[in-house]
Amino acid sequence: MAIRKIAQMGDPVLRRRAEEVPPAELASAAIQRLIDDMIETMRDADGAGIAAPQVNESLRISVIEVVRNPRYPDFPGIPFTVLVNPLIEPLVGTSPLAERDSIVMYEGCLSVNGIRGRVRRPRKVRVRGLDREGHALDFTWEGVPAAVVQHETDHLDGILFVDRADPRSLTFLREYDRYVPRELRLVDGVELVD
Ligand code: NI
Repeated sequence: MAIRKIAQMGDPVLRRRAEEVPPAELASAAIQRLIDDMIETMRDADGAGIAAPQVNESLRISVIEVVRNPRYPDFPGIPFTVLVNPLIEPLVGTSPLAERDSIVMYEGCLSVNGIRGRVRRPRKVRVRGLDREGHALDFTWEGVPAAVVQHETDHLDGILFVDRADPRSLTFLREYDRYVPRELRLVDGVELVD
């Protein structure tokens, strides 16, 4: 396993539509090594998730994990998940996206170093795809996990959170720490960084 360099905003790899992984190639040493490296890179950087384009591989793979933090006993974390060729289907009305159907939270990104911004997304999504062994996945996430899986899947379509953020909410980390009130950083009882 190896920690890989994380592409930063401006790198064209972050703006391409990533390629589907042919299921027959999922078991290959190269793809399995890539997944191991993504896990190690995400954990090393304290990210909530990472997508393959962020480590310079234009493939439709993401990994997600938020370890339960005793500081936020109401938030159970997000189970460790490897998602290959994911499809995301909002389970709420989206046009227009009503307030009760949305989750609004400050997001950050390992590829947009040092910036946070408020993003509104559908609150509940169905997620389908494959795990790293090629088994079918089909589950529903709501709240913070739903926002995270949408953020990671956006990466596979060349979309960064800054494209969806309220532009007037964008803030550097120093100013975020200084000026964003704590209640605005907390969503469903958790403060999520990356
Ligand atoms: Ni990101």
